[in-house]
Amino acid sequence: MQLQTGGRKTAGRNSRSLENSRQYVPKVFLIGFMGSGKSATGLRLARELGYTHYDTDAVFEETHRFTIPSFFETFGEEAFRRIEHNVLMKTASMDQVVVSTGGGTPCFHDNMAFILKHGRSVYLRLDWEHLMKRLLQSRKPRPLIRNTAKHELEQNLEALLKSRESVYRQANHTLDISGLTLTGVIDRLLPLLVAV
Ligand code: S3P
Repeated sequence: MQLQTGGRKTAGRNSRSLENSRQYVPKVFLIGFMGSGKSATGLRLARELGYTHYDTDAVFEETHRFTIPSFFETFGEEAFRRIEHNVLMKTASMDQVVVSTGGGTPCFHDNMAFILKHGRSVYLRLDWEHLMKRLLQSRKPRPLIRNTAKHELEQNLEALLKSRESVYRQANHTLDISGLTLTGVIDRLLPLLVAV
């Protein structure tokens, strides 16, 4: 079984998955800046709950057979945002799913309104120091920060984060994950996802 991909059912490996449908909300959206761990967290959370993991970037790449950086280069950001929107819309009919979004997803079209309407959303927030550290170490190619010198990168990212944070803050919950392990993040996430 492949794990780090979009739209695949994950194996519910522990007891939580047996009772999840009653205890936890059926649809979860993870949002936040690039490098905040939305994909890894979503995959692990989905396994915990026995839900499907739907990673919008992975679905995009699988469906269009383009890496995101080469798609940006060939067709531009606007085209990417249109398709990204369609990829997100597909989650409307899904149940028992954890959706890991791209860093820009909630900030374009009416995506944040859609997210708020269709499930429980969590903003995975990192402080600036942790965010920069992760992005500088990350091997995921990201078109918005490609070929940029460190100093310029910091300035660009700070401006981008400032412009996006008000959207991220609209999420149902903001979870500060600075310095936490993946297990620590999951332990703090689960109580936020209990169905009311
Ligand atoms: C983007 C973030 C990326 C990816 C694309 C655009 C952004 O996802 O969707 O490169 O606009 O912040 P990650 O947040 O997983 O890096």
